[in-house]
Amino acid sequence: MNFQSVLDEIDREIRPLLGAEGAVACYIPGLARVPVAQFGIALHTREGVEACAGDAATPFSIQSVSKLFTLTLAMRYLGDALWERIGREPSGNPFNSLVQLEHEQGKPRNPFINAGAIAIADRLVSRGQGKADLLAFMSDLCGEAVRYDEEVAASEAATGFRNIALANFMKSFGKIDNAVGEVLALYFHQCAIHMSCRQLARAAAFLCRDGAHPFDGRPEITTERHTHRINALMLTCGTYDAAGDVAFSIGLPCKSGVGGGIVAVVPDQLTLCVWSPALDASGNSLLGLKALELFVAKTGLSIF
Ligand code: DON
Repeated sequence: MNFQSVLDEIDREIRPLLGAEGAVACYIPGLARVPVAQFGIALHTREGVEACAGDAATPFSIQSVSKLFTLTLAMRYLGDALWERIGREPSGNPFNSLVQLEHEQGKPRNPFINAGAIAIADRLVSRGQGKADLLAFMSDLCGEAVRYDEEVAASEAATGFRNIALANFMKSFGKIDNAVGEVLALYFHQCAIHMSCRQLARAAAFLCRDGAHPFDGRPEITTERHTHRINALMLTCGTYDAAGDVAFSIGLPCKSGVGGGIVAVVPDQLTLCVWSPALDASGNSLLGLKALELFVAKTGLSIF
């Protein structure tokens, strides 16, 4: 299949729609300033073939897309013990909701809602993993130095009252071991990782290679079994309260972020990253989802 011409076609179809619908995430001041009329798409195949179109080289704030990478690290360090603190069920609620935590004794429904990702950050802090380790992991995965957008991290720290509440609430149930400030510093920084579609499609490629590093010959990132489980969680929980709809209309494991990025996996074949900053009501990139729908329609690549 000529993936480059498929991505060029998608870029041509999406571009006239830029700016028409949706809105950038305004609750994080550092994101509110991002120009809305941007769209990028990139893919990386199991064999290492890459294709990209549009603004695929423009870095953006990866936000919750980071949660799939911190989950990968936490599964590596903790194995099944991870699931004592974090569930594996879709929440059916917005990503920053507090309501289920009270009835469920501070155990987040899954690793991708904010509470779950904060609980993962706590597990990583307990393993001595910090900001520098995470950045080194991301840079190794994509083969290029990546950085934190410190302005975005600082603006989340200054205004992230819900996340501060979620962390303290879980701590009150004895479900966070480390100082809340230290855990949130890692969480706010992971969300502020600055990467492009091209870098993210490449970095996530271990998910279409049974856990092998995106580049041949390097040590495994994770096991085949963990890879299957991460893909399962992305399908059921990766786009929050829209996960059912996304499975229905796209049929690929996806992980979205409020920066407008979405990583999608065609297991055993390729990883894709789309980016466009305007979001729908669930916090998923509106044109990113549209582009993924077009990709599946044009290629027939879907897990169903
Ligand atoms: O904590 C937050 O609210 C953001 N830093 C991340 C949320 C996010 O990306 C949800 N994804 N769609």
